[in-house]
Parts: sequence; structure tokens; C-alpha cells
Amino acid sequence: MREEQQYAVLHEFVRPAQANLSRATWDYIMGGAETETTLERNRRALDAIAFRPRVLRNVEKVDTGGTIMGQKVKLPVILAPIGSLQDMTPEGGKAPTRAAAEFGAMHMLSSACAPGVEEVAAAAPGYPKIYQLYIRGDQKYVDDHISRAMKAGYVALCLTVDLDYYGRRERDLAKRYVTTSRRTNALEHYQARFSWADVAKLRKRYKLPFIIKGIATAEDARICVEEGIEGVYVSNHGGRQLDHGLGGIDALPEVAAAVNRKAEVMVDGGFMRGADIVKAMALGATAVGVGRLQALALSAGGAAAVVRMLELLQDEAMRALGMLGVTSFAELDPSYVKATTPLGRPWLDSAFPLLKEGY
Ligand code: FNR
Repeated sequence: MREEQQYAVLHEFVRPAQANLSRATWDYIMGGAETETTLERNRRALDAIAFRPRVLRNVEKVDTGGTIMGQKVKLPVILAPIGSLQDMTPEGGKAPTRAAAEFGAMHMLSSACAPGVEEVAAAAPGYPKIYQLYIRGDQKYVDDHISRAMKAGYVALCLTVDLDYYGRRERDLAKRYVTTSRRTNALEHYQARFSWADVAKLRKRYKLPFIIKGIATAEDARICVEEGIEGVYVSNHGGRQLDHGLGGIDALPEVAAAVNRKAEVMVDGGFMRGADIVKAMALGATAVGVGRLQALALSAGGAAAVVRMLELLQDEAMRALGMLGVTSFAELDPSYVKATTPLGRPWLDSAFPLLKEGY
């Protein structure tokens, strides 16, 4: 069956993914840290935003395009870095890269994922993508990883900085489950002592755009701007790290204001629907990262399912933009959204309420 027929709505990736995954990998993907309050807040925060549509404007042609690190994309979506993709699809990191290239989105390859940078780059030759690095070794380790990524043609480097300590993900701990990437890559003390001074040194050494992922405050966003960072990525790591944080989109307005258009502003955390993307773009994001939804599509049907997921997100976003009375993301501003009372549905339910009804 062609993907268009196989997946008509976004929730249709969920059950096939669950059927294909072991319980341990499902929980590794879906779980958060400790009480999973941050994880729940990601969706709750999106759910607490309503639209203020404008009408009677010509919206016959809606363009969902955008740019990410200067590269044109059909939808301002980043397939967020995910470790251990090889546990979700036999192609591992190659699958989202191929899907991003085919659709016209961006992929950020995690350094905690197989196969490595070169093999993934070769899966979509010439297509721009971003390399996300955890500092899991000394200067030689860092130099080796960055120069290999540059040689393989990655267009930007993303440093994920919210993992100084690995979050206590209790679904995994309670099962004594250790993921593939943690078994092979657990040298976190290098990350814990990595500081702004080290970022500045790396920037001097490497002439490629930098993104800092894991920003949650205006204070740190300002430091990013002072350091000339090109991409400020608001993220709480999908609620997998520090518990009791704000929802991803809750932290976006203060960061966007602090950045004041001097860098691109990415955000993630709970983004599952086209309307979610529209909300973030109205509040000052230039792109949105998709983590678990990407993992679900990959686990359901590999690269082809991720292309379909991007098509469905684009279709939803296009309709939402049109019904808001605008023809592009660029026309949005905060006047198109308003704080409201969230419905209080739990995480997956709030994105896909029909699942519970057996659809
Ligand atoms: C992640 N995330 C992540 N981030 C990162 O910078 N490097 C990584 O290797 C990983 N690995 C990873 C594995 C899995 C299974 C998940 C679910 C997430 C975090 C990811 O990039 C992103 O910030 C969140 O997933 C966004 O939240 P949602 O979309 O999953 O709700």
C-alpha cells in the first residue's frame, strides 16, 4: 500500500510503531525523567495556546516554506537528533536523512547514533544537514568529530548542552534497561565540565554555523547572541533531562525576545501537529524540532513513513495558516495566538485524542 493510503492521519503511526518495537525501546522513546512533569508540560503548554484567526483575506495560495541555517525548506521542521535510531529502524540515522532530503526538511544527526557521520552523509549526497555533538571525550575527540562532520559536508554544528548529567528516566531504570548508545558512549563527565569558554574556543577554531540546543532562559539566549551563535534552540530534551521544567513553547517567547532576530530560534518539545508548528512560528520561532513523532514514524515504516509524516504536518500547517488568514509563516506574529485553559488531556491523548476511541 502506498504511504498516502497507509497513513491518512498522524495518529496512524502510533500503533504500528508500538507493534514493531520491544517494550523496552518503546519506553525509552516515549518516557521522560522522574515524574515526567516536564514531558507532560510540553504538550500542556501547546494545549494552553489558542488561535485568533483573521478572515476575509485572500488565502488561495499558502506557502509553508522557511529557512533553516540559511537552507530553504518546504516546511520549517527539523527532524530532531535522536540517539540509538538503529534500534528503531534497520537504516538507523540514514532513514531521517533520506526522508528530509526527499521531502525538503532538515535532519540533525545525533552523535549518539549509528551508522556514523560519513555513512549517513552518503545516504543523501549533497543534501544539507546538521551534526549534533555531545561532548563525550577530550579535545581530540571533539576535533575528530567536528572535522569529520565538516569533511562529510554537514552545514552546521549543534551542541546539545542540557545533558551534563543523564536524566533519571525511570521507565528504563525500573526495567534495568540501558540503551545501545549509553552502553557505548557513557563518558558524561566531559559534557559536565564543558562551559561557555569552551564554546568560544570551538567557535574560533571552526568556521561553520553553531547551534546551541537546550536553551531555556532569556539569560542564556543573551549569552548565545553575545557569542555570535547562529542558532538558539529552545529545548528541554523532550522532558528526558531536568524534571519540573517549563514546557518547550513556554520558554520560547522570552528567548525569542532576547535573541531579537540576531539568530535563528528553534524550539521543540511535544510538537506533534501542524497547528503546533504554527503556534511556535507565531511566537517567534524560525523552525520547530520533531522528536518522538519522527521516532514513531520511523519505527512504523522507516524513511517512507517519515516523508509521509512531513507531508501530513505540512498539510495541517498549510490549512491552519490559511484559516488564520495568512499565506506564509512570515506573516504571523503573537497577535494570532492567545493563552487559554488547556483541556488537561494527558500527553499522547492531547495530540491524538482519537487513538483512545479505537481509530
Ligand atoms: C532525544 N533527544 C536527543 N537530543 C539530542 O540532542 N541528542 C540525542 O541524541 C537525543 N536523543 C533522543 C532520543 C530519543 C528517543 C528522544 C525521544 C529524544 C531529544 C530530541 O532531540 C528533542 O529535543 C525532543 O525529542 C523533542 O521533544 P519531542 O518532540 O520528542 O516531544
